[in-house]
Amino acid sequence: MTKNIQIAIDGPASAGKSTVAKILAKRNGYIYCDTGAMYRAVTFQSMSQQTNLDDEAAILSVLDDMLITFDYVDGMQHVYVNGVDVTEDIRTIDVTNNVSKVSAYKAVRQELVNRQKLIASENNIVMDGRDIGTVVLPNAALKIFLVASVDERAQRRFKENQAKGIDVPLETIKQDIEKRDLYDSTRKESPLVQASDAIRLDTTGMGIDDVVSAIESHLLKYT
Ligand code: DC
Repeated sequence: MTKNIQIAIDGPASAGKSTVAKILAKRNGYIYCDTGAMYRAVTFQSMSQQTNLDDEAAILSVLDDMLITFDYVDGMQHVYVNGVDVTEDIRTIDVTNNVSKVSAYKAVRQELVNRQKLIASENNIVMDGRDIGTVVLPNAALKIFLVASVDERAQRRFKENQAKGIDVPLETIKQDIEKRDLYDSTRKESPLVQASDAIRLDTTGMGIDDVVSAIESHLLKYT
């Protein structure tokens, strides 16, 4: 049996992981799995059910009743919970402000990591997140750790928001990114950390195409 090719892309918030991962997956005919969307979906679902976000067991029981699936509509990835499209709902500021807390719970991580491993065992895959190269796919063929300066990441998010008509000051975005970075990289369970065998790519000042090409040059040896 041929082994699936797995590409792990990790890095801090707004480093461009999902944009790059989506293009890479499309160009190479791989599945793309956005693991951040899974943590966001659990956060959204728990909030919609007025679950106490300080209660790990309650959140786990919400997750137990959740089937999380991905699909493509007009080339755009959509996320579904029990068949309901939550693509927009999981990107609200409320969800973004609470997802670090929910994703720090050990039991929530264990359950989602199991689901992520299963998805990756069945497909050639590009998976992005915080712990893909270290925990989810430790044997991935290629591991990339994407970084960029906080200022540049805040600028990118600011422009994305403007394009969507969302008005959040640049300074607020920068502070939120710094807060999330700190939380994600200092939590006890699977903190954001570069795998020892990951290639670190600083994308400050780089365009998306250049980032994708740089990654593809490493991928050549596997195809
Ligand atoms: O990539 P994102 O911003 O959509 O991720 C949302 C949150 O989920 C982020 O604050 C950290 C968490 N996360 C994680 O802990 N592990 C992952 N594999 C992916 C995301």
